[in-house]
Amino acid sequence: MNIAVFGLGYVGVVNLVCFSKLGHNVWGCDIKSQKVDAIAKGKSPIYEPGVDELLEEGLKSGRINANSDAQLVLDKTNVALICVGTPSTADGEVNLDFTLNTTLDIVDYIKRTGRKYTVVYRSTIPPGTIERLIKECFSELDASLMPKIAFLPEFLREGSAINDFFNCSRVVVGSNTDDNEELRQLLSFDEKIPLVFTDFRTAEFVKYVDNAFHAIKIAFANEVYGLGSHYGVDVKKANEIFLMDTHLNIAPTYLRPGLPFGGSCLPKDLRAIHHLAAEKNYVMPVVSSIIPSNNQLLNKMKSLVNEHSPRKVAMFGLTFKSGTDDVRESPMLRLFYELRENTEEISIFDKDINISTLRIEHASVVRYVASTAEEAFENADLIVVCKKGFDDYLKAIPTSATVLNFYQLMDFNISNKQIKLYS
Ligand SMILES: NC(=O)c1ccc[n+]([C@@H]2O[C@H](COP(=O)([O-])OP(=O)(O)OC[C@H]3O[C@@H](n4cnc5c(N)ncnc54)[C@H](O)[C@@H]3O)[C@@H](O)[C@H]2O)c1
Repeated sequence: MNIAVFGLGYVGVVNLVCFSKLGHNVWGCDIKSQKVDAIAKGKSPIYEPGVDELLEEGLKSGRINANSDAQLVLDKTNVALICVGTPSTADGEVNLDFTLNTTLDIVDYIKRTGRKYTVVYRSTIPPGTIERLIKECFSELDASLMPKIAFLPEFLREGSAINDFFNCSRVVVGSNTDDNEELRQLLSFDEKIPLVFTDFRTAEFVKYVDNAFHAIKIAFANEVYGLGSHYGVDVKKANEIFLMDTHLNIAPTYLRPGLPFGGSCLPKDLRAIHHLAAEKNYVMPVVSSIIPSNNQLLNKMKSLVNEHSPRKVAMFGLTFKSGTDDVRESPMLRLFYELRENTEEISIFDKDINISTLRIEHASVVRYVASTAEEAFENADLIVVCKKGFDDYLKAIPTSATVLNFYQLMDFNISNKQIKLYS
């Protein structure tokens, strides 16, 4: 099949390389020409394990192409996957401008060429968006030119996105027609993965249900094990025992205590849920408590650092979680900004960080980022561990430094250093 991917961010790039791996010809398109150029040169604009290899394979085979001209990309393809951003507005509503602009490009194209086309939305959008807004955009087309429209929620997690794509628990398709043969062919790449068809609103909604639940699990794990550690509980063991019950306590993912959640999805999608609930005067006490719980943990981390009155703090990790270069709504970035206010010296080491991206959104942070752990940890009296992989840098810890491990369930095999777990 010939597929267009609009939006070359975390979701778009992963879809680009994965559908190409499945043997399709895929064309990437983005309004940011540097992302298109990067893809064409075989350099992924995002860091995600496994993407570079698949990108190289796709470019070599000729199955991956990229261009910033949306009309050209539409001309080469029959199905578009819309993977553009849907950020929050100031009051938590979902900003659909990027989604609608891409849709209008497609409307123009169909008007001009009269071609049959299929448009599949992958961005997270509130229930009712396709029926209310997207269809409105297409309504200016003759009925005979109406494209097929579908909604395909994306459930991938940054850091394990390729694996999540090929081994997902289900593929959900929102559609209002029984004529779904093309999508069945595209999405039935593994007979073990159920393909679930439902209406648009349900498909749009289930993504929010997932993200609300993930956020609850993280906040819950952080809260209950935080309590346990106040009573001298072996938190790691307690968590291991809890997770053994996979019948009642479900999958272990997101149920391990550690860092507050962040990233481009959970906070934004929770704000969207609040906004949707407020519009209907619907009260959600459980869901409403998730963000305060998450903030409480971040405040706790900050006060634990301050209790040490460090002269120099070195932060190990800045991205919102391990295995990604993404710093969007990273709690560690918030921690950094707050610590910078009243710490004499501060440095960061994060091997995943993308300095050029950081320079665009957080220029003032760049000068604090060290290129090696040794450089970051030098003369630090406190090192705060905020992501996986610290074990590889144990030799770089100065003997006088205290290590505050915010990545709670990680053990370090070092006896002569001062390691503190927080509680
Ligand atoms: N990042 C995740 O882990 C994740 C997981 C599941 C779902 N989602 C959802 O997927 C969507 C995309 O998320 P993301 O993290 O990849 O966003 P992102 O910000 O990394 O990428 C979006 C890209 O879309 C591009 N874009 C905007 N308008 C465009 C247009 N008219 N034509 C072409 N490109 C355009 C932007 O330049 C940007 O590169 C969001 O709705 C998000 O909620 C994200």
